[in-house]
Amino acid sequence: MRDVVRFVLDGEVRELRDIDPTTTVLNLLRYDLRRTGTKEGCAEGDCGACTVALGELDGDTVKWRAVNACILFAPMLDGKALKTVESLGGDHPVQTALVEHHGSQCGFCTPGFVMSLWARGREASPPPVADSIAGNLCRCTGYGPILAAAEAAASVTVVEDDPVDALKTLAKDEPLAFEWNGRRWFSPRTLDQLADLVEAHPDATILAGATDVGLWVTKQHRTLPAIISVSDVPELTTITRNGGEIRIGAAVRYSDAMETLVHLYLDHMVRRLGSVQVRNSGTIGGNIANGSPVGDMPPALIVIGARLALRTGATTRELPLEDYFLGYGKQDRQPGEFIEAVIVPEKPWRFGTVQRFIGAETERPRRAPRGKSDIYKVSKRFDQDISAVCGAFWLWIDTKGRIIDARIAFGGMAAIPKRAKACEAALLGQPWTEATIEAAVTVLEQDFQPIDDMRASAAYRMTVARNMLRKLFVTSEDERVNVLAESATYA
Ligand SMILES: Cc1cc2nc3c(=O)[nH]c(=O)nc-3n(C[C@H](O)[C@H](O)[C@H](O)COP(=O)(O)OP(=O)(O)OC[C@H]3O[C@@H](n4cnc5c(N)ncnc54)[C@H](O)[C@@H]3O)c2cc1C
Ligand code: FES
Ligand code: FES
Repeated sequence: MRDVVRFVLDGEVRELRDIDPTTTVLNLLRYDLRRTGTKEGCAEGDCGACTVALGELDGDTVKWRAVNACILFAPMLDGKALKTVESLGGDHPVQTALVEHHGSQCGFCTPGFVMSLWARGREASPPPVADSIAGNLCRCTGYGPILAAAEAAASVTVVEDDPVDALKTLAKDEPLAFEWNGRRWFSPRTLDQLADLVEAHPDATILAGATDVGLWVTKQHRTLPAIISVSDVPELTTITRNGGEIRIGAAVRYSDAMETLVHLYLDHMVRRLGSVQVRNSGTIGGNIANGSPVGDMPPALIVIGARLALRTGATTRELPLEDYFLGYGKQDRQPGEFIEAVIVPEKPWRFGTVQRFIGAETERPRRAPRGKSDIYKVSKRFDQDISAVCGAFWLWIDTKGRIIDARIAFGGMAAIPKRAKACEAALLGQPWTEATIEAAVTVLEQDFQPIDDMRASAAYRMTVARNMLRKLFVTSEDERVNVLAESATYA
């Protein structure tokens, strides 16, 4: 058992002793290490002013990712390398490009942009520049010069010196556990250790990427007496395929699940979830476990028939994902239990066709039943915004044009992510026609009485949900419509 947090900063191994486990990396940098280049804008993961890069060993190389330091707890640095804007000196090509293209006015946001662009430069297949900085806000310069600087920086190749040897000295097989003023932190390294800890401390906060829990501390000023991190347990951080199923460990980060999400046609949906920084920390398990009525993953996972594996001690049980959500803030998780994995069908399409899930081109054999599926997210802002309504649709239509299977789920329409069962029943056995759709949209009122809140009124949510089903109908079958296309309509 180890009680010292060890990480690498600019090639040197640093040790943290006697720290509050919920000290954020931002505060550690600014107040303890006196690295004040990293800024605090919102303290809730929204503005990117606090962006730093975290590096992890990947064989003999280091894999870097941009993260928000304001909602990252200091013990989460354990075993990793940290890079801040100071690490780049002042004349890194990213910094030079921002100066030369007038991409910095007051400069408050600039360190965050620098680090997002630096991390983008380390990716084998970088996303479009605009996606890379969607989690960074600038209030005064305007994005034109910043985008121009980003494009210019992307054309310069830099050989970086990675701390591979230093990272190798940080063995990760020993669990980390310490206490500070009655507040406890545990980072188990095996599934059994995790199961024992959660059972022994049923009131502890289970922590994955901290993109929700971080805000409990920075915004709600909550004290967390005990935290159990699931991020260093290999079974929870890996994706395996077996017997026609994909098992996604609960602590797999969105950015590490991309290949699988592409396979499931969920990648375009996840591109709308948070920002690069949020997706580099946040996990699929965390999105389910938090029980939010507006989490983006549950509706899509519910319609493709996902199951949850939950573990207590040595016992694992499984249940359909839709049965996990019992009511507002209430889930089917017992004290001492944690989510181990989300299990989805390897090929979420049926009847021997090659019609795949969510907005895919149709390549079905002639005369086979056909699928009609998509997912739509409507939020006030296109990037980095929680859904007002998120709808996932999965319909099968036989060769005579009758709907023979229908699974529809919504987020934002009820206290939990929920199937639209009355609407599904209204579709089943009916011809795939506009009249059927019009009849089905009226039935949505039996399924949902949405709430009014700051994101949307109840009436707006109902209108949006109805229009999503209409959109599914009017979208031509071979046209690839995906959630990114919503920008034209809803941005
Ligand atoms: C700026 C910003 C933008 C965001 N945008 C979106 C968005 O567009 N769509 C969206 O859906 N969400 C969004 N979120 C919310 C958040 O990023 C997601 O819900 C994310 O998936 C949470 O994962 P995490 O690993 O960070 O969870 P954590 O914060 O670590 O944990 C979240 C909850 O899950 C519990 N938990 C975690 N792992 C387990 C486990 N294995 N077993 C049992 N309980 C567990 C924790 O105790 C906690 O209650 C956003 C958050 C931020 C800060
Ligand atoms: S301070 Fe705004 S994202 Fe961290
Ligand atoms: S330069 Fe002022 S906020 Fe971006």
